[in-house]
Amino acid sequence: MKAIISAVMCLLAATGAFAADACYQDVSLDCGQASTSLALPRCNAVYGEYGRHGNVATEMQAYANLHLERSYEYLLSAAYFNNYQTNRAGFSKLFKKLSDQAWEKTIELIKHVTMRGDEMNFSQRSTQKPVERKNYTVELHELESLAKALDTQKELAERAFYIHREATRNSQHLHDPEIAQYLEEEFIEDQSKTIREIAGHTTDLKRFITANNGQDLSLALYLFDEYLQKTV
Ligand SMILES: *[C@@H]1O[C@H](CO)[C@@H](O)[C@H](O)[C@H]1NC(C)=O
Ligand SMILES: *[C@@H]1O[C@H](CO)[C@@H](O)[C@H](O)[C@H]1NC(C)=O
Repeated sequence: MKAIISAVMCLLAATGAFAADACYQDVSLDCGQASTSLALPRCNAVYGEYGRHGNVATEMQAYANLHLERSYEYLLSAAYFNNYQTNRAGFSKLFKKLSDQAWEKTIELIKHVTMRGDEMNFSQRSTQKPVERKNYTVELHELESLAKALDTQKELAERAFYIHREATRNSQHLHDPEIAQYLEEEFIEDQSKTIREIAGHTTDLKRFITANNGQDLSLALYLFDEYLQKTV
């Protein structure tokens, strides 16, 4: 008798469910079958278009991977400027800071991907047409390395713009205001500050070099490195 009552209850629950009640339907169906395993495939954190593995979902994973790669490259530069031959502690400090920032953002992005119910895929790359990029060279002189860092920060910022644009497109399959707001708060504002900072360093170093007509370049670079050690 008890079994019949519970079967009836389950039936009522199933028929009463709306099309949107996906998780509820899973639960109701499972309780109709006398099985002990609850599969509940639709009871997850995925909502909106994110679950359809549309462009925004894969771009967020690709964005985490981009930060991871750039973090590693910055770390190589930090190590390069820290060896006894280059001996530029200020430059090393600057690159270490950029590396740490990119690393933190990688972790944050992975957490966000999993928060939205997705799985992190470390092979995922952006579908956006990649900018022509030469293989990473660590052995650059000081001004070149700053120029490279500025380009890298702009690349990260522009990728955020791209994902934001995809997420705010008034399209049924892309619109994701949560992603748009997350990018604005956690990335877009900080990125403009970092870009401004590195652009400033580039201008300063150019002045240091040109001020003494390249006569004592090593002294100019030495002084600029001292300045970086104090300000970064
Ligand atoms: C991870 O991404 C790569 C590249 O887009 C793709 O080929 C692969 O199937 C993905 N793996 C999973 C488990 O989705
Ligand atoms: C980068 O390095 C790889 C492996 O050494 C090589 O196959 C590729 O052609 C290089 N790309 C550029 C743009 O130099």
